[in-house]
Amino acid sequence: MRTIDWVDGNVEIIDQTLLPGRLELRRIATVEDLINAIQSLAVRGAPALGVAGAYGVALAARQHGGDEKLLLDAVHRITTARPTAVNLARGAERVAALLPKGFDAVLAEADALRDEEIAASAAMAIRGADLLTELCGPAPRVLTHCNTGALAAVVGGTALGAVAELHRRGHLDSVIASETRPLLQGARLTSWELGQLGIDFRVAVDSAGPFLMARGEVDAVVLGADRICGNGDTVNKVGTYAHALGARRAGIPFVVVAPESTVDHDTASGADVEIEDRDGAEVVTGVPAVNPAFDVTPHDLVTAIVTDRRVVRLDRGERV
Ligand code: MRU
Repeated sequence: MRTIDWVDGNVEIIDQTLLPGRLELRRIATVEDLINAIQSLAVRGAPALGVAGAYGVALAARQHGGDEKLLLDAVHRITTARPTAVNLARGAERVAALLPKGFDAVLAEADALRDEEIAASAAMAIRGADLLTELCGPAPRVLTHCNTGALAAVVGGTALGAVAELHRRGHLDSVIASETRPLLQGARLTSWELGQLGIDFRVAVDSAGPFLMARGEVDAVVLGADRICGNGDTVNKVGTYAHALGARRAGIPFVVVAPESTVDHDTASGADVEIEDRDGAEVVTGVPAVNPAFDVTPHDLVTAIVTDRRVVRLDRGERV
């Protein structure tokens, strides 16, 4: 089952707001419904958002093909539905460049982007698993954050794809999934995927991560990214930075796995990235709250970035 695809003239997604209780597909026929799905995190994760952006433009072309003003407005609303993961705007803009050629060309480009993400997941799994074995030996205990599995991509995933590949090779001890406050992508989604894969795991509160590392219970942190900046600064789900600090203090590798489609050379550093601030009611009700959905891990805390095409050893001074 694919997390997102084009099926019978609609965008079809696994509705991630319902997991782990219910596994349901949802058909999306309009730009408005797609934007709602993106903003409510029914579809989420950087690679999946890239595909959503691409197919969103196909929906827009069908809905507003005869009216250029409405069409451009729809593309703009898709592109800006969430600001932080570079994949969303990138996917939408790439496909929008085909609009002058008509709907069939737009859909073909969106399909191509989907297929590239599927291929990227497979390549990252191999490279990521190879690197983790090189860094940690034959059976690491890894900590991961947020959800970076098939649910964040089309199939496979990024960091969790590499973890699954280690498991397939018989080269994984176990996983700690940090719960990922406030929307629980770790406790709800990663734990669901790990269960499906038959991988031994435990969920921990986010703030336990650095202490578990200090206590010697983690051999490597491996997680994904929503945007990797030109200098290697890594923007990812809030809580990532604390795990990176914990990893540095404990002297264990901190590995980022993300496709090339998440590497953004147009953004020099993390300071240039718009961090999505979400409704405080997701954190707590009845009192004021601040709810940044992402944080920035400075590049000097990152051991390596694994993409579908390369391994960049930031710890050895290599450049993104
Ligand atoms: O708010 P989300 O759930 O879209 O955030 C997702 C993440 O932060 C993931 O870690 C990131 O997109 C990498 S997933 C392959």
